[in-house]
Amino acid sequence: MRASHEPPSGVEGKRAFEIVRFYVDTSYQGRGIGAALMEECFDEASRRGADVIWLQVWKEAPWAVGFYARMGFVVVGSAPFYFGEQVGDDHIMARPVA
Ligand SMILES: CC(C)(COP(=O)(O)OP(=O)(O)OC[C@H]1O[C@@H](n2cnc3c(N)ncnc32)[C@H](O)[C@@H]1OP(=O)(O)O)[C@@H](O)C(=O)NCCC(=O)NCCS
Repeated sequence: MRASHEPPSGVEGKRAFEIVRFYVDTSYQGRGIGAALMEECFDEASRRGADVIWLQVWKEAPWAVGFYARMGFVVVGSAPFYFGEQVGDDHIMARPVA
């Protein structure tokens, strides 16, 4: 997670933080670890003065999109992502930080 000074359009806030990578090891998924890590991200972002947190997620990864939605994120835009020669399509999802 890092402060992002020029967040993508659709992300509303004065001080935005981006979650850049978020993974739970396969054999530990589905046990509440992702939710606990995400709560820690919200707390850390709040301590650092964030008012909004955002991330990019592949549109064709419903397991991840569903998880982020469960964590309170909503789709606010889209963006291309580059993987070698391929260009994919990501959602931008964001959530206010209390
Ligand atoms: C997505 C991921 C981070 C979730 O972590 P996790 O530890 O498995 O998630 P948790 O067990 O903490 O689940 C948290 C909540 O999200 C819910 N949830 C998980 N996947 C969901 C989905 N696809 N749709 C809706 N809700 C979902 C759980 O039911 C749980 O809700 P509950 O508290 O009401 O039961 C993890 O599965 C993962 O790393 N997946 C592969 C990598 C990946 O896709 N990462 C994102 C890259 S962009």
